[in-house]
Amino acid sequence: MIDRHTIDKIFETARIEEVVGDFVSLKKRGANLLGLCPFHNEKTPSFNVSPARGIYKCFGCGKGGNPVNFIMEHEHLTYPEALRFLARKYSIEIEEKEESPEEIQAHNEKESLMLVSGFAQQFFTETLLETEDGKAIGMPYFIERGFTADIVAKFQMGYSPEKRTAVAEAATAKGYKAEYLEATGLCIKRDDGGLLDRFAGRVMFPIHNVSGRVIAFGGRTLRTDKKIAKYINSPESPIYHKSNVLYGIYFAKNKIVSNDNCLLVEGYTDVVSMHQAGIENVVASSGTSLTVEQIRLIKRYTKNITILYDGDAAGIKASFRGIDLVLEEGMNVKVVLFPEGDDPDSFSKKVGGEELQEFIKKESKDFIGFKTGLLLKDTQNDPIAKAGLIREIMETISLIPDAISRNIYTTECSRIMNVDEQLLISELNKTRRKNFTKTLKEEEAQQIPESEEQYQHQQPVSEKVEPDYEEQERDIIRQLITFGDKAVMPAKTLNETGEEVEILITVAEFIYHDLTADNMYFENLLYQLIFNEAGKAIEKNIIPDDKFYVQNPDQRISGFAAGIISSPYLLSPKWLEKHKIHTNLEEGQIPKSVKHSIYSLKVKRLMKRISETEEQFATAKTEEETMEILEQHKLLLDIKRKIATDELGRVVLK
Ligand code: CTP
Ligand code: MN
Repeated sequence: MIDRHTIDKIFETARIEEVVGDFVSLKKRGANLLGLCPFHNEKTPSFNVSPARGIYKCFGCGKGGNPVNFIMEHEHLTYPEALRFLARKYSIEIEEKEESPEEIQAHNEKESLMLVSGFAQQFFTETLLETEDGKAIGMPYFIERGFTADIVAKFQMGYSPEKRTAVAEAATAKGYKAEYLEATGLCIKRDDGGLLDRFAGRVMFPIHNVSGRVIAFGGRTLRTDKKIAKYINSPESPIYHKSNVLYGIYFAKNKIVSNDNCLLVEGYTDVVSMHQAGIENVVASSGTSLTVEQIRLIKRYTKNITILYDGDAAGIKASFRGIDLVLEEGMNVKVVLFPEGDDPDSFSKKVGGEELQEFIKKESKDFIGFKTGLLLKDTQNDPIAKAGLIREIMETISLIPDAISRNIYTTECSRIMNVDEQLLISELNKTRRKNFTKTLKEEEAQQIPESEEQYQHQQPVSEKVEPDYEEQERDIIRQLITFGDKAVMPAKTLNETGEEVEILITVAEFIYHDLTADNMYFENLLYQLIFNEAGKAIEKNIIPDDKFYVQNPDQRISGFAAGIISSPYLLSPKWLEKHKIHTNLEEGQIPKSVKHSIYSLKVKRLMKRISETEEQFATAKTEEETMEILEQHKLLLDIKRKIATDELGRVVLK
């Protein structure tokens, strides 16, 4: 974990205009900067950056936040990844927090393994481009296969010398330890203790993690000898878990988001060739059959996957498996089969980029179309085979988590296969009941991930909001964030002798204590989360200011706070008036305004309770019940009268 002190330093150092400016061209507009939003398509700029407040906010799509939020959103990184990204940009040394000696060692080990992998990549690339062997053997191979020098450079491809100690010697000379060369699998230890290179004589495809660092390699032989493994891959290591990694993800992630679709191919060369053909939203599972973890990685960027496999039997089988896995994750899947004997690499070389693009568009089939298209011919006159196919399709449909999608596919299956829909639905329910019991057992066995990974699992706050109170609740939270620490207001407390006396407390304390004293909560869960965070700080005698929210590690809070504090500065006075947002509130007006919004929320809640009791009154059955309701009604009216006068702010501080 990154130490709090380091996090503060990153926030202090990172200038929003510089961080955003690396990706967006910005023009000055008053105190702010303006540009085209990188998160949605627009022709007129509505993307605002406020250097003074350290935030960005798009008034087109609503995205906003601090520099870390921007990097997370733009580079699709987790919170700690984004912090490390910025630390690197500003050369801030990261101090790790309270790590046990084991953790420190594990962390240093990972870093060392990445460093030696990065070194090896450079070594392979230099060998390819600058040595005699590279120029005579490695490069001609790539050229023969139709790869351009640009694409070789982009993917940092290389060549491992024939000499079986080349990497070991070069790395050792540079001070890289043998244990790391062995742990990454770059070298293999001989019985006599010496090191031998794993990839000698192969052309090299480095594998990058999502932030672009080299974590492993695939090495292809140049020979056609069938007895030699075509590819050799790095073994599993602390930085390389095959099943969690997708080849090409670093180069594809932004295009996956902007196309809202991820193309999935089988091999290294498929990814590279498609990039060369101008199709960049593509990754490969390379070397493993597709895993759930890989699908979840894609899910960070899009909900749509198109599987592009070979049309041979193995490819078809693999795509069947892929379909089920993707659907089970609640994502949408399409399939494209290439003509038998062709993969995206060879096909793109035959027909060129445009035609490949066209082919994918034309041949994309949803899974029912795909399965029936393949199997229907064989089952035409065979009722048993046909029933088998239907059952198989329904098994797949039953995996889809979303009921509406299941329904749509069931209807389509009934239409295509010409069977009664009701029958299919009952079949579907049977299968789901069976699977449900299975899933329950699996879920029980699942572990909650620890440490940094927990950030990846930060659930979005449910968007279900009781619209009844939205306006009032939002107003209170807005005040809490914008001037929680900026003004004081009178509240009552008990002194040592038990007398009620008036004291001055900050707006944040006022809001916190007043709502807590009345057991008030927010219907909007995001507001409740913000309120809770503020409360925790106040209990520790820290008065949260706007930075507390804008720089909050929870990006749900920081994103929202950025939006709140940017609004009054960047919006027109008319808009402000319409939404009753007071900009240049004078100190003296703040207490009134805060009391007013708390009052509004409480009254609104009470009014709802009152009208509920009135409804109950109308349907009361016994005398007793009627009396009870009347009493309740009177009590509520009393409370309403009280908070309308001066009871608000009757706070007992702990
Ligand atoms: N693969 C592997 N080991 C092998 C064969 C294949 O790890 N012995 C993996 C590689 O990641 C490869 C992918 O499976 O990219 C797909 O295999 P294949 O289609 O046989 O290779 P291509 O990518 O088509 O490679 P090439 O075009 O160089 O023959
Ligand atoms: Mn190939």
